[in-house]
Amino acid sequence: MSAGSEFFPREFVWGVAAAAPQIEGAAREDGKGESIWDRFSRVPGKVHNGDTLDDGCDHYHRFDEDFALMARFGVKNYRLSIAWPRIFPHGDGEPNPAGIAFYDRVLASMERHGITPWVTMYHWDLPQALEDRGGWRSRGTVDAFAFYADTIVRAFGSRVKHWITLNEIRCFTELAYGLGTRAPGLRVDEATLNQIYHHALLAHGHGVRAVRKFGGVGAQVGLTDNCDACIPVMETAADIAAAREWFRRRNLHLLGAIHAGGYSEEYLKRCGAAAPVVADGDFALIGAPTDFLGLNLYTGPFVRANTAGAPEEVPLPAAYPTADSAWLNIVPQVMYWGTRLAHEAYGVKHIYITENGCGYNDEPVVDGEVRDLHRREFLRAHLREMQRAIADGVPVRGYFLWTFMDNFEWEDGYQRRFGIVHIDRATQARTPKLSAHYYATVMRENRVL
Ligand code: FCB
Repeated sequence: MSAGSEFFPREFVWGVAAAAPQIEGAAREDGKGESIWDRFSRVPGKVHNGDTLDDGCDHYHRFDEDFALMARFGVKNYRLSIAWPRIFPHGDGEPNPAGIAFYDRVLASMERHGITPWVTMYHWDLPQALEDRGGWRSRGTVDAFAFYADTIVRAFGSRVKHWITLNEIRCFTELAYGLGTRAPGLRVDEATLNQIYHHALLAHGHGVRAVRKFGGVGAQVGLTDNCDACIPVMETAADIAAAREWFRRRNLHLLGAIHAGGYSEEYLKRCGAAAPVVADGDFALIGAPTDFLGLNLYTGPFVRANTAGAPEEVPLPAAYPTADSAWLNIVPQVMYWGTRLAHEAYGVKHIYITENGCGYNDEPVVDGEVRDLHRREFLRAHLREMQRAIADGVPVRGYFLWTFMDNFEWEDGYQRRFGIVHIDRATQARTPKLSAHYYATVMRENRVL
Protein backbone atom coordinates (compact mmCIF):
# COMPACT_ATOMS: atom_id res chain seq x y z
CA MET A 1 0.00 0.00 0.00
CA SER A 2 1.47 3.34 -0.95
CA ALA A 3 2.39 5.64 1.93
CA GLY A 4 0.61 8.96 1.66
CA SER A 5 -2.72 7.59 0.60
CA GLU A 6 -4.11 5.52 3.40
CA PHE A 7 -1.40 6.10 5.98
CA PHE A 8 -0.26 9.33 7.58
CA PRO A 9 3.40 10.28 7.18
CA ARG A 10 5.59 8.08 9.36
CA GLU A 11 6.69 10.95 11.60
CA PHE A 12 3.16 12.31 12.08
CA VAL A 13 2.61 13.44 15.69
CA TRP A 14 -0.52 12.07 17.38
CA GLY A 15 -1.50 13.30 20.80
CA VAL A 16 -4.08 14.60 23.21
CA ALA A 17 -4.43 18.08 24.71
CA ALA A 18 -5.59 19.58 28.00
CA ALA A 19 -5.02 22.68 30.12
CA ALA A 20 -4.04 23.09 33.76
CA PRO A 21 -7.05 25.08 35.00
CA GLN A 22 -9.50 22.62 33.46
CA ILE A 23 -8.14 19.45 35.03
CA GLU A 24 -5.73 20.02 37.90
CA GLY A 25 -8.07 21.04 40.71
CA ALA A 26 -6.11 21.70 43.92
CA ALA A 27 -6.95 25.34 43.38
CA ARG A 28 -5.45 26.41 46.69
CA GLU A 29 -2.79 23.80 47.23
CA ASP A 30 0.95 24.24 47.72
CA GLY A 31 0.80 28.00 47.61
CA LYS A 32 -1.07 28.38 44.31
CA GLY A 33 -2.43 31.90 43.87
CA GLU A 34 -5.95 32.73 42.80
CA SER A 35 -6.49 32.91 39.04
CA ILE A 36 -9.01 35.06 37.20
CA TRP A 37 -11.00 31.89 36.49
CA ASP A 38 -11.05 30.95 40.20
CA ARG A 39 -12.55 34.37 40.83
CA PHE A 40 -14.86 34.54 37.80
CA SER A 41 -16.37 31.10 38.42
CA ARG A 42 -17.60 32.36 41.79
CA VAL A 43 -19.56 35.23 40.27
CA PRO A 44 -23.18 34.03 40.27
CA GLY A 45 -24.51 33.24 36.82
CA LYS A 46 -21.16 33.21 35.03
CA VAL A 47 -20.51 29.46 34.94
CA HIS A 48 -23.13 26.79 34.36
CA ASN A 49 -24.36 25.27 37.59
CA GLY A 50 -21.97 27.43 39.63
CA ASP A 51 -19.18 24.96 38.88
CA THR A 52 -15.69 25.97 40.01
CA LEU A 53 -12.17 24.82 39.20
CA ASP A 54 -11.57 23.71 42.77
CA ASP A 55 -11.40 19.99 42.17
CA GLY A 56 -11.20 19.68 38.34
CA CYS A 57 -10.31 16.08 37.57
CA ASP A 58 -8.04 16.02 40.61
CA HIS A 59 -5.21 15.57 38.14
CA TYR A 60 -2.97 17.38 40.62
CA HIS A 61 -3.01 14.24 42.76
CA ARG A 62 -3.70 11.63 40.08
CA PHE A 63 -1.35 12.60 37.27
CA ASP A 64 0.69 9.45 37.59
CA GLU A 65 -2.41 7.29 37.17
CA ASP A 66 -3.57 9.53 34.28
CA PHE A 67 -0.28 9.15 32.43
CA ALA A 68 -0.40 5.40 32.96
CA LEU A 69 -3.85 5.39 31.36
CA MET A 70 -2.61 7.54 28.47
CA ALA A 71 0.30 5.18 27.95
CA ARG A 72 -2.08 2.23 27.94
CA PHE A 73 -3.95 3.84 25.08
CA GLY A 74 -0.75 4.51 23.18
CA VAL A 75 -0.64 8.30 23.70
CA LYS A 76 2.89 9.46 22.90
CA ASN A 77 2.38 13.24 22.93
CA TYR A 78 0.51 15.30 25.46
CA ARG A 79 -0.18 19.01 25.26
CA LEU A 80 -0.47 20.39 28.79
CA SER A 81 -0.31 23.90 30.19
CA ILE A 82 1.51 25.33 33.16
CA ALA A 83 -0.57 27.28 35.66
CA TRP A 84 1.02 30.70 35.99
CA PRO A 85 -0.49 31.19 39.50
CA ARG A 86 1.27 28.04 40.72
CA ILE A 87 4.64 29.43 39.64
CA PHE A 88 3.93 33.05 40.62
CA PRO A 89 1.01 33.14 43.06
CA HIS A 90 1.01 36.95 42.81
CA GLY A 91 1.86 37.12 39.12
CA ASP A 92 5.47 38.17 39.60
CA GLY A 93 8.04 38.46 42.37
CA GLU A 94 9.60 35.27 43.73
CA PRO A 95 8.71 31.95 42.09
CA ASN A 96 6.93 29.43 44.28
CA PRO A 97 9.24 26.40 44.69
CA ALA A 98 6.27 24.08 45.31
CA GLY A 99 4.76 25.08 41.97
CA ILE A 100 7.98 24.33 40.14
CA ALA A 101 8.37 21.05 42.03
CA PHE A 102 4.86 20.00 40.95
CA TYR A 103 5.62 20.36 37.24
CA ASP A 104 8.97 18.64 37.78
CA ARG A 105 7.04 15.66 39.11
CA VAL A 106 4.55 15.84 36.24
CA LEU A 107 7.27 15.95 33.60
CA ALA A 108 9.22 13.16 35.26
CA SER A 109 6.11 10.99 35.30
CA MET A 110 5.44 11.71 31.62
CA GLU A 111 9.01 10.72 30.83
CA ARG A 112 8.59 7.46 32.73
CA HIS A 113 5.47 6.76 30.69
CA GLY A 114 7.12 7.57 27.37
CA ILE A 115 4.99 10.67 26.73
CA THR A 116 6.49 13.77 25.12
CA PRO A 117 5.36 17.09 26.62
CA TRP A 118 4.08 19.98 24.48
CA VAL A 119 3.77 22.81 26.95
CA THR A 120 1.48 25.82 26.66
CA MET A 121 2.75 28.73 28.72
CA TYR A 122 -0.59 30.48 29.03
CA HIS A 123 -4.01 28.86 28.84
CA TRP A 124 -6.09 31.74 30.28
CA ASP A 125 -5.45 31.38 34.03
CA LEU A 126 -3.99 34.81 34.67
CA PRO A 127 -3.04 35.38 38.32
CA GLN A 128 -5.84 37.48 39.84
CA ALA A 129 -3.18 39.74 41.39
CA LEU A 130 -2.21 40.85 37.89
CA GLU A 131 -5.82 41.42 36.91
CA ASP A 132 -6.10 43.65 39.95
CA ARG A 133 -3.30 45.70 38.43
CA GLY A 134 -5.03 46.00 35.03
CA GLY A 135 -4.70 42.50 33.61
CA TRP A 136 -4.17 42.37 29.86
CA ARG A 137 -5.11 46.06 29.63
CA SER A 138 -1.76 46.82 31.20
CA ARG A 139 1.64 46.49 29.62
CA GLY A 140 2.81 45.48 33.09
CA THR A 141 1.18 42.10 32.50
CA VAL A 142 3.37 41.66 29.41
CA ASP A 143 6.46 42.31 31.55
CA ALA A 144 5.23 39.82 34.14
CA PHE A 145 4.59 37.27 31.40
CA ALA A 146 8.10 37.78 30.03
CA PHE A 147 9.56 37.00 33.45
CA TYR A 148 7.24 34.03 33.91
CA ALA A 149 8.20 32.66 30.47
CA ASP A 150 11.90 33.03 31.27
CA THR A 151 11.37 31.28 34.58
CA ILE A 152 9.52 28.25 33.25
CA VAL A 153 11.75 27.77 30.22
CA ARG A 154 14.79 27.87 32.49
CA ALA A 155 13.18 25.51 34.97
CA PHE A 156 11.81 22.94 32.53
CA GLY A 157 13.81 23.47 29.34
CA SER A 158 15.89 20.34 29.79
CA ARG A 159 12.74 18.20 29.62
CA VAL A 160 10.47 20.31 27.39
CA LYS A 161 11.43 20.78 23.76
CA HIS A 162 8.04 21.84 22.37
CA TRP A 163 6.67 25.12 23.63
CA ILE A 164 3.43 26.91 22.81
CA THR A 165 3.37 30.52 23.90
CA LEU A 166 -0.35 31.31 24.21
CA ASN A 167 -3.61 29.50 23.69
CA GLU A 168 -6.27 31.18 21.55
CA ILE A 169 -5.65 34.90 21.89
CA ARG A 170 -9.24 35.73 20.90
CA CYS A 171 -10.66 33.87 23.88
CA PHE A 172 -8.71 35.68 26.57
CA THR A 173 -9.01 39.08 24.88
CA GLU A 174 -12.15 39.55 22.80
CA LEU A 175 -14.38 37.17 24.77
CA ALA A 176 -12.89 38.11 28.15
CA TYR A 177 -12.63 41.90 27.88
CA GLY A 178 -14.89 42.60 24.90
CA LEU A 179 -17.94 40.37 25.28
CA GLY A 180 -17.32 39.60 28.93
CA THR A 181 -18.34 35.95 28.73
CA ARG A 182 -14.94 34.70 29.87
CA ALA A 183 -12.79 35.72 32.84
CA PRO A 184 -12.36 38.45 33.92
CA GLY A 185 -15.74 39.23 32.36
CA LEU A 186 -15.29 42.89 31.42
CA ARG A 187 -16.58 44.98 28.54
CA VAL A 188 -13.97 47.56 27.62
CA ASP A 189 -14.02 50.10 24.80
CA GLU A 190 -12.62 49.43 21.37
CA ALA A 191 -9.29 51.21 21.86
CA THR A 192 -8.64 49.29 25.06
CA LEU A 193 -9.53 46.03 23.36
CA ASN A 194 -7.13 46.74 20.49
CA GLN A 195 -4.43 47.50 23.04
CA ILE A 196 -5.21 44.20 24.76
CA TYR A 197 -4.70 42.34 21.45
CA HIS A 198 -1.39 44.14 21.10
CA HIS A 199 -0.32 43.11 24.60
CA ALA A 200 -1.20 39.51 23.82
CA LEU A 201 0.93 39.66 20.67
CA LEU A 202 3.79 41.06 22.72
CA ALA A 203 3.44 38.26 25.26
CA HIS A 204 3.66 35.77 22.41
CA GLY A 205 6.85 37.50 21.26
CA HIS A 206 8.32 37.21 24.74
CA GLY A 207 7.45 33.53 24.85
CA VAL A 208 9.40 33.01 21.63
CA ARG A 209 12.28 35.10 22.96
CA ALA A 210 12.41 33.08 26.19
CA VAL A 211 12.60 29.78 24.30
CA ARG A 212 15.32 31.08 21.97
CA LYS A 213 17.33 32.31 24.93
CA PHE A 214 16.86 29.54 27.47
CA GLY A 215 15.28 26.62 25.61
CA GLY A 216 18.51 24.80 24.85
CA VAL A 217 19.29 22.51 21.95
CA GLY A 218 16.36 21.40 19.83
CA ALA A 219 13.76 23.64 21.48
CA GLN A 220 10.86 24.62 19.24
CA VAL A 221 8.21 27.24 19.79
CA GLY A 222 4.98 28.42 18.20
CA LEU A 223 1.65 30.03 18.91
CA THR A 224 -1.66 28.22 19.20
CA ASP A 225 -4.31 30.28 17.48
CA ASN A 226 -7.99 29.75 16.93
CA CYS A 227 -7.92 31.67 13.70
CA ASP A 228 -11.27 32.46 12.15
CA ALA A 229 -11.51 29.75 9.50
CA CYS A 230 -14.22 29.35 6.91
CA ILE A 231 -15.34 26.88 4.29
CA PRO A 232 -16.09 27.83 0.70
CA VAL A 233 -19.66 26.82 -0.08
CA MET A 234 -18.44 25.27 -3.30
CA GLU A 235 -14.90 24.37 -4.15
CA THR A 236 -14.98 26.61 -7.21
CA ALA A 237 -12.34 29.23 -7.99
CA ALA A 238 -14.78 32.04 -7.12
CA ASP A 239 -15.86 30.69 -3.72
CA ILE A 240 -12.31 29.69 -2.81
CA ALA A 241 -11.11 33.21 -3.62
CA ALA A 242 -13.92 34.60 -1.45
CA ALA A 243 -12.93 32.29 1.40
CA ARG A 244 -9.31 33.41 1.06
CA GLU A 245 -10.28 37.04 1.25
CA TRP A 246 -12.61 36.46 4.21
CA PHE A 247 -9.80 34.61 6.01
CA ARG A 248 -7.29 37.36 5.32
CA ARG A 249 -9.56 40.11 6.65
CA ARG A 250 -10.71 38.27 9.73
CA ASN A 251 -7.21 37.36 10.90
CA LEU A 252 -5.50 40.61 10.03
CA HIS A 253 -5.05 41.82 13.62
CA LEU A 254 -3.51 38.60 14.97
CA LEU A 255 -1.93 36.05 12.61
CA GLY A 256 -1.80 38.72 9.90
CA ALA A 257 0.17 41.14 12.09
CA ILE A 258 2.50 38.44 13.42
CA HIS A 259 3.41 37.16 9.97
CA ALA A 260 3.70 40.57 8.35
CA GLY A 261 5.76 41.88 11.28
CA GLY A 262 3.47 44.89 11.68
CA TYR A 263 -0.07 46.18 11.45
CA SER A 264 -1.32 46.70 7.92
CA GLU A 265 -2.67 50.04 6.68
CA GLU A 266 -5.98 48.31 6.26
CA TYR A 267 -6.13 47.26 9.90
CA LEU A 268 -5.02 50.63 11.22
CA LYS A 269 -7.61 52.35 9.04
CA ARG A 270 -10.24 50.01 10.37
CA CYS A 271 -9.25 50.93 13.94
CA GLY A 272 -9.09 54.67 13.28
CA ALA A 273 -8.70 56.55 16.55
CA ALA A 274 -8.90 53.25 18.44
CA ALA A 275 -5.62 51.97 16.97
CA PRO A 276 -3.22 50.32 19.43
CA VAL A 277 -0.19 52.15 20.75
CA VAL A 278 2.95 50.43 19.46
CA ALA A 279 6.33 51.04 21.08
CA ASP A 280 9.66 50.91 19.26
CA GLY A 281 10.86 47.37 18.90
CA ASP A 282 7.48 45.75 19.57
CA PHE A 283 7.27 44.14 16.17
CA ALA A 284 10.84 42.89 16.24
CA LEU A 285 9.57 40.76 19.10
CA ILE A 286 6.10 39.95 17.77
CA GLY A 287 7.28 39.09 14.27
CA ALA A 288 10.22 36.90 15.33
CA PRO A 289 10.17 33.62 13.38
CA THR A 290 8.57 30.62 15.04
CA ASP A 291 9.01 26.93 14.33
CA PHE A 292 5.37 26.00 13.83
CA LEU A 293 1.85 27.28 13.96
CA GLY A 294 -0.66 25.56 16.21
CA LEU A 295 -4.27 25.73 15.10
CA ASN A 296 -7.28 24.89 17.22
CA LEU A 297 -9.93 23.96 14.70
CA TYR A 298 -13.48 23.20 15.74
CA THR A 299 -15.91 24.94 13.43
CA GLY A 300 -16.35 27.76 10.95
CA PRO A 301 -18.91 29.47 8.74
CA PHE A 302 -19.61 28.85 5.08
CA VAL A 303 -18.53 31.61 2.72
CA ARG A 304 -19.25 32.20 -0.97
CA ALA A 305 -18.62 34.92 -3.53
CA ASN A 306 -21.50 37.35 -3.87
CA THR A 307 -22.45 38.82 -7.22
CA ALA A 308 -19.63 41.35 -6.91
CA GLY A 309 -17.18 38.55 -6.11
CA ALA A 310 -16.81 39.67 -2.48
CA PRO A 311 -17.00 37.21 0.42
CA GLU A 312 -20.43 36.60 1.85
CA GLU A 313 -21.18 34.42 4.87
CA VAL A 314 -24.16 32.14 4.40
CA PRO A 315 -26.17 31.78 7.62
CA LEU A 316 -26.75 28.24 8.81
CA PRO A 317 -30.27 26.85 8.70
CA ALA A 318 -31.83 26.12 12.10
CA ALA A 319 -31.59 22.38 11.55
CA TYR A 320 -27.84 22.42 10.87
CA PRO A 321 -26.18 19.71 13.05
CA THR A 322 -24.31 20.84 16.15
CA ALA A 323 -22.66 19.19 19.12
CA ASP A 324 -24.16 20.06 22.52
CA SER A 325 -21.72 22.95 22.72
CA ALA A 326 -23.97 25.57 21.18
CA TRP A 327 -21.12 27.11 19.17
CA LEU A 328 -19.95 23.83 17.74
CA ASN A 329 -21.58 23.51 14.33
CA ILE A 330 -20.24 20.34 12.82
CA VAL A 331 -18.14 21.26 9.81
CA PRO A 332 -15.42 18.66 9.23
CA GLN A 333 -14.07 20.62 6.26
CA VAL A 334 -12.72 23.19 8.70
CA MET A 335 -9.75 20.83 9.02
CA TYR A 336 -9.04 21.09 5.32
CA TRP A 337 -9.76 24.76 4.81
CA GLY A 338 -8.43 26.05 8.12
CA THR A 339 -5.04 24.52 7.53
CA ARG A 340 -4.94 25.27 3.81
CA LEU A 341 -5.95 28.92 4.14
CA ALA A 342 -3.39 29.50 6.93
CA HIS A 343 -0.68 27.81 4.89
CA GLU A 344 -1.50 29.85 1.80
CA ALA A 345 -1.84 33.15 3.66
CA TYR A 346 1.29 32.98 5.79
CA GLY A 347 3.49 30.38 4.16
CA VAL A 348 3.81 28.43 7.42
CA LYS A 349 5.81 25.27 6.91
CA HIS A 350 4.74 23.28 9.96
CA ILE A 351 1.18 23.21 11.21
CA TYR A 352 -0.03 21.24 14.19
CA ILE A 353 -3.69 20.87 15.00
CA THR A 354 -3.30 21.61 18.70
CA GLU A 355 -7.00 21.03 19.43
CA ASN A 356 -10.02 19.46 17.79
CA GLY A 357 -12.87 17.57 19.39
CA CYS A 358 -16.50 17.79 20.41
CA GLY A 359 -18.54 18.43 23.56
CA TYR A 360 -21.67 16.53 24.52
CA ASN A 361 -23.70 16.42 27.72
CA ASP A 362 -24.34 13.46 29.89
CA GLU A 363 -22.63 10.47 28.37
CA PRO A 364 -23.60 7.68 30.75
CA VAL A 365 -21.52 4.65 31.55
CA VAL A 366 -23.57 1.60 30.55
CA ASP A 367 -22.19 -1.85 31.38
CA GLY A 368 -18.78 -0.30 31.93
CA GLU A 369 -18.85 1.40 28.54
CA VAL A 370 -19.57 4.87 27.16
CA ARG A 371 -20.87 4.40 23.63
CA ASP A 372 -20.00 7.79 22.22
CA LEU A 373 -20.45 6.92 18.59
CA HIS A 374 -21.23 10.58 17.88
CA ARG A 375 -17.67 11.42 18.95
CA ARG A 376 -16.22 8.57 16.92
CA GLU A 377 -18.12 9.88 13.91
CA PHE A 378 -16.96 13.44 14.55
CA LEU A 379 -13.32 12.38 14.82
CA ARG A 380 -13.41 10.19 11.77
CA ALA A 381 -14.92 12.89 9.57
CA HIS A 382 -12.44 15.50 10.80
CA LEU A 383 -9.41 13.25 10.46
CA ARG A 384 -10.39 12.43 6.89
CA GLU A 385 -10.47 16.12 6.02
CA MET A 386 -7.11 16.63 7.68
CA GLN A 387 -5.74 13.80 5.60
CA ARG A 388 -7.13 15.41 2.47
CA ALA A 389 -5.22 18.60 3.36
CA ILE A 390 -1.98 16.64 3.75
CA ALA A 391 -2.58 14.90 0.43
CA ASP A 392 -2.96 18.35 -1.17
CA GLY A 393 0.40 19.46 0.19
CA VAL A 394 -0.66 21.35 3.32
CA PRO A 395 2.12 20.79 5.89
CA VAL A 396 0.07 19.42 8.78
CA ARG A 397 2.56 17.63 11.01
CA GLY A 398 0.43 16.53 13.92
CA TYR A 399 -2.93 16.34 15.63
CA PHE A 400 -3.84 16.72 19.29
CA LEU A 401 -7.32 15.62 20.22
CA TRP A 402 -9.20 17.80 22.67
CA THR A 403 -9.35 16.24 25.17
CA PHE A 404 -8.23 13.23 27.18
CA MET A 405 -10.65 13.45 30.13
CA ASP A 406 -13.97 15.25 30.59
CA ASN A 407 -13.15 18.47 32.38
CA PHE A 408 -14.09 22.04 33.31
CA GLU A 409 -15.36 23.52 30.06
CA TRP A 410 -15.15 27.20 31.05
CA GLU A 411 -18.55 28.89 31.23
CA ASP A 412 -20.23 25.57 30.41
CA GLY A 413 -18.86 24.00 33.59
CA TYR A 414 -18.53 20.23 33.89
CA GLN A 415 -21.76 19.49 32.10
CA ARG A 416 -20.14 19.72 28.67
CA ARG A 417 -17.94 16.70 28.13
CA PHE A 418 -15.14 16.73 25.55
CA GLY A 419 -13.15 13.76 26.84
CA ILE A 420 -12.42 10.39 25.34
CA VAL A 421 -12.21 9.27 28.96
CA HIS A 422 -15.32 9.66 31.09
CA ILE A 423 -15.01 11.23 34.51
CA ASP A 424 -17.49 10.38 37.22
CA ARG A 425 -17.90 13.72 39.00
CA ALA A 426 -18.76 12.07 42.31
CA THR A 427 -15.96 9.52 42.48
CA GLN A 428 -13.45 10.84 39.90
CA ALA A 429 -13.44 7.35 38.38
CA ARG A 430 -11.94 7.29 34.89
CA THR A 431 -13.70 5.17 32.24
CA PRO A 432 -12.29 5.17 28.71
CA LYS A 433 -15.08 5.76 26.21
CA LEU A 434 -15.54 3.92 22.94
CA SER A 435 -13.86 6.92 21.27
CA ALA A 436 -10.70 6.29 23.33
CA HIS A 437 -10.45 2.82 21.83
CA TYR A 438 -11.16 4.25 18.40
CA TYR A 439 -8.50 6.96 18.68
CA ALA A 440 -5.96 4.52 20.16
CA THR A 441 -6.37 2.37 17.04
CA VAL A 442 -5.99 5.38 14.73
CA MET A 443 -2.78 6.42 16.51
CA ARG A 444 -1.38 2.91 16.53
CA GLU A 445 -2.14 2.18 12.88
CA ASN A 446 -1.38 5.73 11.71
CA ARG A 447 -4.47 5.84 9.51
CA VAL A 448 -8.13 6.72 9.74
CA LEU A 449 -10.28 3.73 10.49
C1 FCB B 1 -10.92 25.77 23.22
C2 FCB B 1 -10.06 25.87 24.46
C3 FCB B 1 -10.02 24.62 25.29
C4 FCB B 1 -11.35 23.90 25.33
C5 FCB B 1 -11.94 23.75 23.95
C6 FCB B 1 -13.25 23.02 23.89
O1 FCB B 1 -11.38 27.02 22.88
O2 FCB B 1 -8.75 26.19 24.10
O3 FCB B 1 -9.55 24.98 26.56
O4 FCB B 1 -12.21 24.48 26.21
O5 FCB B 1 -12.07 25.00 23.33
